[in-house]
Amino acid sequence: MGAILAFSGKGGSGKSNLAALVLRQLIRAAVKPVLAVDADPNATLGLMLGVPVESTIADLRDRMGEAATKVSEIPKERLMDQWLAEILSEEKGFDLLTMGRPEGPKCYCYVNSLLRRYLKELRGSYAVVVVDCEAGMEYLSRLTVDDIDTLVLVAEATSVGLTSARRIAQLADALPVRVKRRVLAVNKVGQPGPAETALDDRQVPGAAAVVRVPFDEDLYRRCAGGEPLDDQAGEAARPAIESLTRLCLPQLCQDQPTHR
Ligand SMILES: Nc1ncnc2c1ncn2[C@@H]1O[C@H](COP(=O)(O)OP(=O)(O)OP(=O)(O)O)[C@@H](O)[C@H]1O
Ligand SMILES: [Mg+2]
Repeated sequence: MGAILAFSGKGGSGKSNLAALVLRQLIRAAVKPVLAVDADPNATLGLMLGVPVESTIADLRDRMGEAATKVSEIPKERLMDQWLAEILSEEKGFDLLTMGRPEGPKCYCYVNSLLRRYLKELRGSYAVVVVDCEAGMEYLSRLTVDDIDTLVLVAEATSVGLTSARRIAQLADALPVRVKRRVLAVNKVGQPGPAETALDDRQVPGAAAVVRVPFDEDLYRRCAGGEPLDDQAGEAARPAIESLTRLCLPQLCQDQPTHR
């Protein structure tokens, strides 16, 4: 059963960047096969990984509606499996599944239930599943997996960033989702701007470890220019990403001391 790593946090904290960088690190460490899941309706993980996303789970919602009006020889279950193969992008070293957003004011429930079903099916075929979550807290209550191996709480190195991570951690405590391990990733440390005040990152409940990821100009520049995060991206952040990956998957990577 593949280990699930979910990246959550406030909008703009760096969830997608860290998810993409950890995925690249897993590939470098020869952990395979790996599945990347973009569970944010405002999908950007494909862009960051340089993968053209042609269709998403949300697109299937409409196809299912059309199929329901036609008499078909193929059972619905088989159709769903065929379609999954079509929307799974196969890349060098990993596959990518994108949830997408239903067009217009449609409900997310169906798209969510499809993602849940696909994750259940696919999980057994991968060593690791890296999930880039939607910003904020609301998604946690309709989370598409019941048990997460590692919940990475991504927070900007600011007081507001840490407060937000603490709230997400508290909400995770109140929900029936099982989380084996929590890691706090304090991101963009040393970002240009007003000096950071001393931050107490122990305020986040239940975080087994803290990793401080430095502000890396290359990451910022690539995002600004729409350039993907390839294997060369984010050299300055690399040691912290290596630590983060080891802490997230101690069973797959040799455990090392916390990187601060
Ligand atoms: N360690 C870092 N160093 C420099 N810039 C970073 C770092 N991490 C993230 N960023 C920048 O912060 C911005 C937000 O990053 P990202 O899109 O990964 O955040 P997010 O949490 O996924 O956002 P959203 O909530 O919109 O999905 C981007 O411009 C990105 O380049
Ligand atoms: Mg994102």
